[in-house]
Amino acid sequence: MKVKIITVIISALLIFSVFSCGSTQTATTAGNARQQPQIQPLKIIYQDYFPIGNIIKDNYMRGEYLDLLIEHFNYATAENSMKPSGLGPRERGGEYNWAPADRMVDLMLNNDIAIHGHTLVWHNQTHAWMTEGSPEVVRQNMISYINAVLAHYKGRVFSWDVVNEAVIDGINPGEQNWRNCLRPSGWYQAMGADYIDLAFRTARAADPDVLLFYNDYNLNNPRKATMVRDMVRDLNERYRAEGHDRNLIEVIGMQAHYSTSVSISNVRAALDMFREIGVSVAITELDVETRTVGGANSGTGRDSFATDTEQRIQALTYANLFQLFKEYSDLIIRVSFWGMDDELSWKSFGNPCLWDSNLEPKQAFFAVADPEGTLNR
Ligand code: XIL
Repeated sequence: MKVKIITVIISALLIFSVFSCGSTQTATTAGNARQQPQIQPLKIIYQDYFPIGNIIKDNYMRGEYLDLLIEHFNYATAENSMKPSGLGPRERGGEYNWAPADRMVDLMLNNDIAIHGHTLVWHNQTHAWMTEGSPEVVRQNMISYINAVLAHYKGRVFSWDVVNEAVIDGINPGEQNWRNCLRPSGWYQAMGADYIDLAFRTARAADPDVLLFYNDYNLNNPRKATMVRDMVRDLNERYRAEGHDRNLIEVIGMQAHYSTSVSISNVRAALDMFREIGVSVAITELDVETRTVGGANSGTGRDSFATDTEQRIQALTYANLFQLFKEYSDLIIRVSFWGMDDELSWKSFGNPCLWDSNLEPKQAFFAVADPEGTLNR
């Protein structure tokens, strides 16, 4: 197979330069630290498997960031601009803030990068007014917001995270009912569990051409994955029982904010669980921290200290994940990263990206480019 031949050649070229060099810097041409090594773009390496995405934000709209984005990725998700706090009016009845997101969408589409919409209904980054007032007012706020956004992006954005992070962490062992596991967001407080169904039905009616996602993190936790599976299955069964011939929730987005201790078998178990209920899966926000710092220390660490061993373990984690994703490529419709470089990552203290703060490719990059070669080395 073409991809296999390419990866064999690449791995032969990179064995010495990546894993036998003692420093955390990876292969670059002497005398020109900024020159990227000769390697196939990730989107080409994975073209027979799935599209490969990353985020778009102001810093990535020019210069080397944009060059790298265009070179390696064929999907983009706005990191913040298409969230309710980014697009939505500051007060009820006010103006929508389309311009910043539209600049990103136009730039991406002009460079053959498709856009995934993120996100319509969430407990975070949402103006307070949207969930204030009587249940009926909150309901109308949600409906009119979804309608406005889908109408605005019609024909330009073909998939949306309709509901993000509705399920709690720390689910009790033996829990049987997903309705007991919902986050007490403003949406939930106004409408109860029904807000999820309503959000998806509103989005479907607003634009039937759009692929609808439920997106969440920690789905490598078996209890959380089980509750998400049950929720999606229930809502889809109810919808289909009304005579619809497609699912209401078509894709489960696994955010995949991982550390190097992530259990690959738990990720596999979640993929198996989601396959069982007949939906597709997307890996929507992948990053792998060399160490989990979390909290207030998550951002602006530039390149925080990571030993060569930590970088190696991170590379192996990425390799294991991509080997798994390839194995499940009939189920997985996209793999997107949440950031290109360690400096601008939301978790920069954990150095979670494929490029360092100088935009040099890390061991992690070469591991993604050639997972099998990396693991067999
Ligand atoms: C993060 C952004 O990366 C940060 O810039 C912002 O300050 C907070 O949100 N899950 C999601 C994303 O669905 O929207 C979050 O993005 C990361 C966790």
